Amino acid sequence: MKTRLALLLSLSLATAAQAADESVAEVWTARCKSCHGPDGRARTQMGKKEAIVDMSQPAWQKARADDDIRAVIAEGSSRNKKMKPYKEKLTPQQIDSLVAYIRAFKKG
Ligand code: HEC
Repeated sequence: MKTRLALLLSLSLATAAQAADESVAEVWTARCKSCHGPDGRARTQMGKKEAIVDMSQPAWQKARADDDIRAVIAEGSSRNKKMKPYKEKLTPQQIDSLVAYIRAFKKG
C-alpha cells in the first residue's frame, strides 16, 4: 500500500518537473512568438496591429529593468490588455528564464 502511494507520488512529481523543464525556447515559441515573433521584434500581424515594441532595440533594453520585464510577464500590461498576465500559467523560474531570453534579443 505504502509503496503504491510512493510510486503514485513520484509519478505526479515527475510530471510537474517535466512541465517546468520545458525549455525557455519552447515556452517562447508556444506562448509568446505569435505576437512578439521568433526574435522579439514583433514583425507579426498582432505586432503591427498593436504597435508592439521591438525588443531587440538597445534603447528599449536599456529603459527596462529585469524587474519591469518580469512584472509585465507576470501581471500583464496595464497599457494593452492583449498582453495578458502569465503568473497562473508559468512558474517564477520560467518567467526568470524568459527575462534572460528577452535580454538575448538585444542587437550587437
Ligand atoms: C496576444 C499577443 C501577445 C502574446 C501572446 C504575448 N504578448 Fe507580450 N505584449 C503584447 C502587447 C500588445 C504588448 C504591448 C504592451 C505595452 O505596450 O505595454 C506586449 C508587451 C510585452 C513586453 C514589453 C512591455 C514593455 O514594458 O515594453 C514584454 C516583456 C512581453 N510582452 C513579454 C511577453 C512574453 C514573455 C510572452 C509569452 C509568455 C508574451 N509577451 C506574449 C502582446 C502579446
